[in-house]
Amino acid sequence: MASAQAEWKADFFGTVNQMPPEPVGLLIHVLEVMASEPTFHRARRELLQDLGVSAGGRILDGGCGTGVALPDILEVCGRSVQVYGVDPTDAFLDVARKRARDLGVVGAEYRNGDVRALPYPDHHMDGAFCEKVLLHVGPPEAVLRELVRVTRPGGRVGAIDWQPHFVLSCTRPDLEAKFNGLFRQALYDYRAAPNLARYFAQAGLQQVRTRTYLAHTDRLGDPPFWRAFLVEQLPLFVGAGLLQPEEAEALAADFHALDARGWFRASFVVYTAVGTKPA
Ligand SMILES: C[S@@+](CC[C@H](N)C(=O)[O-])C[C@H]1O[C@@H](n2cnc3c(N)ncnc32)[C@H](O)[C@@H]1O
Repeated sequence: MASAQAEWKADFFGTVNQMPPEPVGLLIHVLEVMASEPTFHRARRELLQDLGVSAGGRILDGGCGTGVALPDILEVCGRSVQVYGVDPTDAFLDVARKRARDLGVVGAEYRNGDVRALPYPDHHMDGAFCEKVLLHVGPPEAVLRELVRVTRPGGRVGAIDWQPHFVLSCTRPDLEAKFNGLFRQALYDYRAAPNLARYFAQAGLQQVRTRTYLAHTDRLGDPPFWRAFLVEQLPLFVGAGLLQPEEAEALAADFHALDARGWFRASFVVYTAVGTKPA
């Protein structure tokens, strides 16, 4: 059923334009290290392969953020692909445009807009996807309806999401529970990832295929994603009133102490889905 605009919602990722520069800079850093985390990287590449957009085709990156997907799009689809990124966050779009310039890409357009009301005509794209968007922006039917609308019949639509529940080594179960609980509290659709198959089927997509990935580390600082996400961004949660300063300090100290002794372990799950728009 079509969702009305009044039902459109987003979490803090819908308000980044109103944030001061410091947290925005931190978010840009976190998006960058998340994109290069090997599991997200592998999931993105396999999703792009599954989308099947070939050289010269058009691909939409809905909620493109800082354009982290661009290098993988170019590698998987070829440098003659036309990339259309849409995101409402001005600071993220600046980074995306700079990335395209630095890579010498002329066929990439990054526009300010809403993934639930895309500035493109029906059937314009050969494929469309969104990465880490459905857990922040919704409702999912409004996002997917637009991705489907702009994709040509027979083209494919995809999504990557993750469930921010960390399986963590920690000597403070109270803080571990609070840390994991804050994502449930703060995110728009915490359970988007394991529901992608249903969302895609309900959006009218066919031959829906999902893949599941386990992200894991034995080291807090390698790759850099883990320290950035679990320690460096704790001030954001404190600033949002989700964690007390002393809790953030104790959590970071616990992770560092475990890591120093080789006992740190952390994991989470990533899901992707790809479906075909009926001909
Ligand atoms: C977790 S970030 C993911 C960004 C990028 N896809 C990536 O993987 O790095 C969520 C993104 O959703 C964007 N966003 C928030 N509201 C949106 C909306 N209504 N339409 C499109 N994107 C939106 C944010 O600006 C942010 O870039």
